[in-house]
Amino acid sequence: KKKIAIMTSGGDSPGMNAVVRACVRMAIYLGCDPYCIYEGYEGLVRGGDLIRKMEWHDVRGWLSEGGTLIGTARCMAFYEREGRLAAAKNLIAHGIDALIICGGDGSLTGADRFRAEWPSLLDELVEKGEFTEEEVTPYRHLNIVGLVGSIDNDLSGTDATIGCYSALQRICAAVDLIEATASSHSRAFVIEVMGRHCGWLALMAGVATGADFIFIPEKPREDNWREEMCRIVENHRKRGKRKTIVIIAEGALDREGNKITPQMVRDLLADKNGLAIDTRITTLGHVQRGGTAVAYDRMLATLQGVEAVKAVLDATPEMPTWVIAITENKIVRKPLMQAVQDTKKVAAAIESQDFDLAMSLRDAEFAE
Ligand code: F6P
Repeated sequence: KKKIAIMTSGGDSPGMNAVVRACVRMAIYLGCDPYCIYEGYEGLVRGGDLIRKMEWHDVRGWLSEGGTLIGTARCMAFYEREGRLAAAKNLIAHGIDALIICGGDGSLTGADRFRAEWPSLLDELVEKGEFTEEEVTPYRHLNIVGLVGSIDNDLSGTDATIGCYSALQRICAAVDLIEATASSHSRAFVIEVMGRHCGWLALMAGVATGADFIFIPEKPREDNWREEMCRIVENHRKRGKRKTIVIIAEGALDREGNKITPQMVRDLLADKNGLAIDTRITTLGHVQRGGTAVAYDRMLATLQGVEAVKAVLDATPEMPTWVIAITENKIVRKPLMQAVQDTKKVAAAIESQDFDLAMSLRDAEFAE
């Protein structure tokens, strides 16, 4: 029986459990034995009871659970060849040569390297007398398929990553709550959202809540961002708006590549010689990442999990490592490293005119 291992890696995201459930059950449905690797790459390196065979009922109820029940960890050992050698040894010992990984682009890039290195790892294990040539022969090729689990929606070539709509929903709900108190006191709030390198959450939350101003990493603000923001906020205030919402991504930058911090924005809005608005900062933090997945993420995780199992069974050594994507509402397989490379290009040349227009729908911009 073919053995397929499933693991989650990097920051958790809502929908990862739905991925594991779908993969475990699809593997069983197709006559394979599913295994879960607990604690991400750490589990791969340490082996033992961190690699467990799963049954159909083991994942019962996982569709609606937040986080990742099989754990995830940042693993330094996997960066070293020794660590990857231990990982290869553990997989062979369990008879596993098919791996499905749900994680961010960093985790998936690591997986692609592991797959490329696999034949030489096996050679070394034979040299060291861990296995005989006959023992490793059936496992000469490692097939890996990636699924993108990230709240940041930060991979090119897929319309949505698993978890991004849950985080966006959480941000919108939090902004709604903040708006009530902001309006009551006629205050401004600078709300920091996640997104170290990717502004999707900040941008979409800005559009979805009608925020006054946003900051994202991909579109660094011009030198005159201070004047621009104050002009917009002042306009809104003149028209009777009692609240000001500024959404800032963690990784917000200016043209020189300097970080724009929530504190800088707060100080500007509160400046006694300027707008002098009573301003507070709210950092939403990991609230955005926790909790159950919204319907879209559960659906995406399930459909992509099913496809991942089929893809890992179809894969051959000549084919590139695949990542499962969704484009134009279709679940598709794409070469992983192409998607990783395109992500860098897109970030360098973001085309955000439509969003500029959408943001301009806030109160004052189009009004007479
Ligand atoms: O990668 C997703 C992400 O949510 C980033 O936006 C954020 O910067 C990071 O994870 C924080 O993760 P952690 O606190 O786990 O290091």
